[in-house]
Amino acid sequence: MKLLIVGGGGREHALGWAIGRSSRPSQLCFAPGNAGTAQLGTNVNIGAEDLAALLALALKEQPELVVVGPEVPLAAGLADQLRAAGLKVFGPGAAGARLEASKVWAKEFMARHQIPTAQEVTFEECDAALNYLEQQAGPYVIKADGLAAGKGVLVTNDRAEARTFINEVMRDQIFGQAGTLLIIEEFLEGTEVSALAFCDTISGSIVPLEPACDYKRAYEGDAGPNTGGMGAYSPPALMDEALRNRMMQEVFAPTLRGLIEEGIDYRGIVYAGLIITATGPKVLEYNCRFGDPETQSLLPRLKSDLLDWLEAVAEGRLKEMGDLEWDTRPSVGVVLAAGGYPGPYQKGLPVQGLDDFESSTTDLFLFHAGTNLAENGAVVTNGGRIFNVIAMDSSIAAARTRVYNKLDEGKLRFEEMRYRRDIAAREVKGEV
Ligand code: AMP
Ligand code: GLY
Repeated sequence: MKLLIVGGGGREHALGWAIGRSSRPSQLCFAPGNAGTAQLGTNVNIGAEDLAALLALALKEQPELVVVGPEVPLAAGLADQLRAAGLKVFGPGAAGARLEASKVWAKEFMARHQIPTAQEVTFEECDAALNYLEQQAGPYVIKADGLAAGKGVLVTNDRAEARTFINEVMRDQIFGQAGTLLIIEEFLEGTEVSALAFCDTISGSIVPLEPACDYKRAYEGDAGPNTGGMGAYSPPALMDEALRNRMMQEVFAPTLRGLIEEGIDYRGIVYAGLIITATGPKVLEYNCRFGDPETQSLLPRLKSDLLDWLEAVAEGRLKEMGDLEWDTRPSVGVVLAAGGYPGPYQKGLPVQGLDDFESSTTDLFLFHAGTNLAENGAVVTNGGRIFNVIAMDSSIAAARTRVYNKLDEGKLRFEEMRYRRDIAAREVKGEV
């Protein structure tokens, strides 16, 4: 089976790897891919945001399934265009992708369908937002409406910082159109959980994946700026059966119902960023795609045939798929990032120690993210997040030990490589 996978991060490498485990052989094409995906199939040098070129590629190659990884092409309507051209696609159209692409729309959607979330006020005018801010006590949670590559949210106790952010978003438009509207919302306390589900409004079904936790802040102890994610583990212990049932009944079921009621064709992943508060799960945000780096930690645990599931969703037959099967062993995944990330960083740095990973075992995995092949065929860095190293073991503690022991060997490295040492530490007694 011929597939086109759009994107070039760790998520797409993990998706391609998991598709390769299917009982059905596949031929994979990635746009643009990375040095890791080059080992699984063909990379085509087309960016994930170049809709016209992606459409032309798909029309020429006629893949039997297109899997769209990132949010930007989904929000721009890539899935709609591909479907209109008669292709099968995993990923929602622009209407469904609004769940992620407009935080204001997502908030209104949650209100229409009684989905629990933080209380918020939406502003169209910078002065009105600033006036409102002056009357509030911290912590302040401020969100630009549109897509801002993970940088559109500020959580702070410092009112002056909040003021500056509002001015930058609304007056200076540092995120462009994404800052036309702005939300100030209630601060919620609790543990964050990434809750992903296969969603298909055609057959009317939503099937949760295993829950995961990611680490958004750059530095240990959740300090420093937000990033795309510095590591993830699955499953978090707090997600017991009762909470999983509540997540299904209070979040996923009404989300599916809402999408159907509003006539939205949604075939892809619904990812609810939850916070588990004292009164239950609340939705912080939706994403319309697989999470990165959650996917890299989740897919090694998936025993079901991913290709069958992606195809069933794309064809609107999710309802006939039954339950997903998972390895009971937990996983812990750590992101190896460039020195300056998420600030400016160098690219094109050579990578050492990759051979050591070619012989990946069944409990240790390496996924490439921001890597590239230099002209001489060597792997070099090409982004902020370079690799994901994932271990599975009988417990979170054992998986943690396995992944950090591997990294401590110090074989896999590049100049100024950096990673957090506290991924999943909160799950292990005696570690914070
Ligand atoms: P978002 O992009 O909406 O997930 O926000 C980025 C991060 O900001 C989240 O992962 C949370 O850590 C934090 N955050 C967002 N909204 C809230 C909230 N209402 N209360 C507390 N923290 C929040
Ligand atoms: N890991 C967070 C995200 O994919 O948005």
